[in-house]
Amino acid sequence: MVFLKKPEEIEKIRKSNQIVAEILMSLREKVKPGVTTLELNGFSEKMAKKKGAAPAFKGYKGYPFSLCTSINSQVVHGMPSGKKLSEGDILSLDFGVCYEGYYGDSAITVPVGTVSDKARRLMDITEAGLYRGIKEARAGNRLGDISAAVQDCVESSGYSVVRDFVGHGIGKNLHEDPQIPNFGIRGRGLELKVGMVLAIEPMVNEGTFRVKVLEDGWTAVTEDGRLSAHFEHSVAITDDGPDILSII
Ligand code: MF3
Ligand code: CO
Repeated sequence: MVFLKKPEEIEKIRKSNQIVAEILMSLREKVKPGVTTLELNGFSEKMAKKKGAAPAFKGYKGYPFSLCTSINSQVVHGMPSGKKLSEGDILSLDFGVCYEGYYGDSAITVPVGTVSDKARRLMDITEAGLYRGIKEARAGNRLGDISAAVQDCVESSGYSVVRDFVGHGIGKNLHEDPQIPNFGIRGRGLELKVGMVLAIEPMVNEGTFRVKVLEDGWTAVTEDGRLSAHFEHSVAITDDGPDILSII
């Protein structure tokens, strides 16, 4: 069931997403060679607590951390560890909070020091794909318009979109209907309405779209070991079009 949010609720979801955005910006500044993802996880928790927000991922379906840290060929749900980041890595940071009963969820992929041109381009295309999808998040369009826009942008640049993980509605729950694939057909699927709030989150691979989940039960990696990037925004559909709640 897809919930439509009133303007007051959208403002609450914006507040949660602002907290997420602030924390992601602070984390981005801490990312450098030698830092561990476990340290970043600790910072994210401390900052959330200071802002009176609860980390949304910790305990979610048994996930044991507050932050997802996916390095290089890790696609999503990478678990923080004591291993140091290296110059040239790319790191996806996915973070969510619950504040006064409403959720925020956003992700960025950031370079560790200086990265290769091909890593840079993968990150840029993934973010561009997200924004192409967001542009389609308007009343009267269909879910497939978002999905197809992301897929076109990504595939026309020579990359692939992950099939096994999707975006989602967000509000009083971290994950609500509808599911939002990053591949699809224009004009198909659910009709978008004012009041929907959608977390759109393309995961883009350099090579095959195929992924596998490691023994830890969480970490998703590319099947071919090539790079992957991930960007996510929570977006409200308003009378004036898409309103990105997770940017400051
Ligand atoms: N942004 C991810 C998602 O929307 C984060 C979920 S991680 C989990 O699915 F640990 F909470 F599952
Ligand atoms: Co999400």
